[in-house]
Parts: sequence; C-alpha cells; structure tokens
Amino acid sequence: MDTNTILRPHIANMEAYTPILPFDVLSEQLGIPAGQIVKLDANENPYGPLPDVQAALANLRYTHIYPDPESRHLRAALAAYHGIPAENILIGAGADELIDLVMRLILEPGDCIVNCPPTFGMYSFDAAVNNARTISVPRDRNFNLDVERIAAVVAESIPKAIFLASPNNPDGGLVSPEMLDALLELPTLLILDEAYIDFAPPGTSPLSQWERGWGEGNLVMLRTFSKWAGLAGLRLGYGIFPDWMMPHLWKIKQPYNVSVAAERAGVVSLEHVDQLQIRAQKIIVERERLFIALQKLPWLQPYPTQANFILCKVIDRDAALLKADLAQQGIFIRYFNKPGLDDHIRISVGTPEQTDLLIAALKRGAYAYSND
Ligand SMILES: Cc1ncc(COP(=O)(O)O)c(C=O)c1O
Repeated sequence: MDTNTILRPHIANMEAYTPILPFDVLSEQLGIPAGQIVKLDANENPYGPLPDVQAALANLRYTHIYPDPESRHLRAALAAYHGIPAENILIGAGADELIDLVMRLILEPGDCIVNCPPTFGMYSFDAAVNNARTISVPRDRNFNLDVERIAAVVAESIPKAIFLASPNNPDGGLVSPEMLDALLELPTLLILDEAYIDFAPPGTSPLSQWERGWGEGNLVMLRTFSKWAGLAGLRLGYGIFPDWMMPHLWKIKQPYNVSVAAERAGVVSLEHVDQLQIRAQKIIVERERLFIALQKLPWLQPYPTQANFILCKVIDRDAALLKADLAQQGIFIRYFNKPGLDDHIRISVGTPEQTDLLIAALKRGAYAYSND
C-alpha cells in the first residue's frame, strides 16, 4: 500500500503542531511537586472552578448517559445572562472547536481567510487543516490593525472570513469600535474571538448592542469558559451566530461534543456570575501590580493589556534563555519563537503569590540573561 496516495496531501505536507507538556509530566521532569509549579504560560485562571462548580462536579450523575446534543440548560442560561435568544447560541468543546466548525462550514479547498498576526495560532492552523489559504495582514509594531489593507485584501481576494481576537492574544489590545464598524461594513464574515473579554472594561464588546449584524448579518462572536470561569480543562466555549448560519452549524456539529461535566460546570458557573466577576476583578488588580513590577525591570518593556496576560519585549537579553532558566525553577512563561515576536515573552496573570515568585526570580536571574 502506498500510504502517500491515501493521506490527504495538504495534511501530509503540514507542519506538525507542538503540543504542550501536561502538568504532571512537567512536575515529574523537574522534580517539583505539581502544586508548586507556577504556570503562567497558557492564560489559564489561577483560581480554577468556583467552589460550587467543584461540588457539582463531585456530585455529578448520569455520566453513563450521553450528554444533551443541544446543551439546552447551558444555552438557556447563556441566553438569560446575555439577553439574547438561545437560538443564536451554539456550545463547543472550547472556542477552539467552534473555530474549526465555522471553517468546516464555509471553506472549500483553496478558499482563503484573513488573519492579522501576531495573533492566536489556531486561525491559521485550522485554515491549513481545512485546506484553505491564510492571507496575513500583519499588525504594526504596536499591534494595531491595518484596516485599509484588510479592506484591500477583501476586495482583491474575496476571503470567506476575517478572524480577529479582541483582546488580541498575545498583546492584550482591543479592537476599537471604529475599526469594528469599518470591518463589519466589509462584504465578508467577521469572526470576533472574545476569549478574554471578561478582563476588559464593561461594554467593550459589540454584544451589548447585539441586534446589529444579526439575521442576515456578518458577525460571529466566540467566547470561552476557559479563562474567566477557570474551566480550561473541561473544554467549554460558545459562539453567538447570525440566524442564517445556525441550521447549518447544527447539521455538522458532532452530536456529543460537550460532555455532561462541562455543561453542568458551565450552568453552575453562570448561577454565580457575581463570584466570577469578583475573581476577574482580582485578576485585573493583580495585572496592574504585575505590570508595574515588570515595568521596573529595565530590560523588560510590558505592553498595555486588557486581558489576563502581559506581553513584554525583552531588551538586551536572550528571551529564549530567560524562559528556559525560569522553567528550571518551575516558573513557566510563554516565549514566542516566531518572526516579529522572537524577543518577546507573554506572562499570564496569576495569584499575588505567583507574581511575587516570578518577580523575585526575574530579579535574581537578571545578569544571567545578558547578551553582552
Ligand atoms: C484568542 C483565543 N481564542 C480562543 C482560545 C481557546 O479557547 P478554548 O480554551 O475555549 O478553546 C484561546 C486560548 O488560549 C485564545 O487565546
């Protein structure tokens, strides 16, 4: 059998994705107990699920029965929370699943999407999996969008969609309302990924004026329980879609994509939105403290952020070495081995104790990372 004729060529030729090491493997490799690892590399919520969610999970029943394919309880709770119809909401195993689902719905081989790097890697990754082209319209040095160039690309290449994160990962900047208006005028779909919106000032999302762009509209919004609700390990996200997309999304969605545990955790989280908001506020307060502490290090330049992480430019130091040295001490941050970001690190906002450990390690190691 010639395996080359069996594999889909675009997948056979794709670069492999580098998966992260799980927590317990890291702990074993370093000889540091998992509880002592300071994990600030994946923008997770350091506080985990709410206590009521933990209790609900401990008492979970009917895990031997397949979950509700329509996640009715969670969609109803989200509809009430956002004041929008449940009919426009679809739940996914993380926002990640919904990025792929939208692409499977709209992309024929050879179609294209617009991506604005540096940004979240899954947009170009999923486009490649779906045999589509990614047209990049890079951000400027301060991570601002080039809306004129995006408009020109839409006119020239007729992309099926623009994928945009707000706040953007890795810099944490928001798309301004003016830019959003300009992008929504373009004759293409806009997928606005708001994974980090709960750490941004209230009212920043267009969801507050949700009537705009629905029905025949071109706006899709993605959200997740991974960041503000501390449920990254359970995989739970949702999308808010225009009417015309919903019947087709239902057709292609895997029937049991959201587990019984994930749906229950989402519902109980929404019963305690006030507690989630208090914790988000705690992370925002800690973000400001971490920002000031990072700013005091002359060889780090943090960028203003509206998310639960801070991107820093590393000046006159080797960012890869810095990441490796911190990792040896059980402190994990994100280093981007990518053009345009190779001298940058991204640090998730953790607990105050984690901030203290990180800052102490950065101060201790400062001389060791010098390029001189
Ligand atoms: C911008 C952005 N969107 C989506 C996700 C993934 O969300 P989920 O955990 O719901 O798949 C991430 C995760 O880091 C992200 O940074």
